[in-house]
Amino acid sequence: MKANVWPNKPYPAASPSGASGRHPSKLPPRLTQALESFIPCTSHSDLPALRTAVTGVDAIACAYTTDPVLYLEGGLWLLRAAEAANVKIFIAASWTQDWTNIQYGDFELYDSILAFVDHVAAASVIRPVYLVNGTFAEWLMRPTPSSLGSEGNGEPSGSVRCEFLGTGDTKRVSWTTMDDAAAYTIELLCNNPAIREGQGGVFRFRSGEPTLREMAAVYEKVTGQEVEVVCKGSLEDGERELDAKKRETGRAGLWDRLRLSSSVAAARGLWEFKEPVLDLSYVKEPTTFEEHLRERMEEGSRCGGIGRGE
Ligand SMILES: NC(=O)c1ccc[n+]([C@@H]2O[C@H](COP(=O)([O-])OP(=O)(O)OC[C@H]3O[C@@H](n4cnc5c(N)ncnc54)[C@H](OP(=O)(O)O)[C@@H]3O)[C@@H](O)[C@H]2O)c1
Repeated sequence: MKANVWPNKPYPAASPSGASGRHPSKLPPRLTQALESFIPCTSHSDLPALRTAVTGVDAIACAYTTDPVLYLEGGLWLLRAAEAANVKIFIAASWTQDWTNIQYGDFELYDSILAFVDHVAAASVIRPVYLVNGTFAEWLMRPTPSSLGSEGNGEPSGSVRCEFLGTGDTKRVSWTTMDDAAAYTIELLCNNPAIREGQGGVFRFRSGEPTLREMAAVYEKVTGQEVEVVCKGSLEDGERELDAKKRETGRAGLWDRLRLSSSVAAARGLWEFKEPVLDLSYVKEPTTFEEHLRERMEEGSRCGGIGRGE
């Protein structure tokens, strides 16, 4: 199958035949060399480049960064180009939490995904594929302050602090390593009958689903570092604070309250997956959290700490 990965993201060697993005230098050289083509574009609305990139491909995987503009507007520009080129298989904004559990406003970052889903169902012949994987493992239990659910003292090998609301520490957290997600994505793209026939749909997979406390125990065992699991208040406290922030800064303030709104959604159990969840272990055994952390430590010891601390 000939697939275009859009824009450039790392995938297993056998998969993409073409890619597009703003500059090929952002791809690792081994991937650039493996591609049949790389079509440069100036932006997500560069229609001539989009049209060139999608012409003659069997499938498109849209992997724009986490951004409401790209989720909605970028997705639509690309989808219209795909329609014109008669491409039926279209992976829309993906590798997310299970947004099928939420309504507009529950987690504002995903409002743009809900809008895309709604609009495309009504106004396109394409039936997109949406892949749900929970949180990427690479973002979990980071000792550096860059991740959504946890942060540490800034030292690459420091302790980790995770905050939750209400009973958020007992809810199941679905997570997936990027390698598992890549393998499962390619499997679905190449071999899932509904996807191949252009029927689209929501497909859930994951590497695991521990609670926050279970994950913390594994982290402590593997790294010897402390994880502080801290209750920041009741769910109602969090909801009140979130409402106040929404009144204060309006829709545009979504990035400032992202962590809080994610904690509220977690405490409400909204990030627990609906069924069905696919078992794709025949393609690749899911990585355990312990294996992931050990790999991260190996990588970190080469770079001077636990993980890259990016
Ligand atoms: N579940 C999770 O925990 C999680 C976390 C993060 C992301 N994700 C998912 O993973 C996917 C990739 O997200 P990411 O944040 O990791 O992406 P990323 O690697 O930071 O960026 C992906 C691509 O977005 C393109 N891009 C960025 N800004 C752009 C713009 N203004 N116009 C056009 N292209 C632009 C870049 O293309 P250029 O080469 O042109 O710069 C880049 O190759 C998304 O589908 C997201 O939903 C999931």
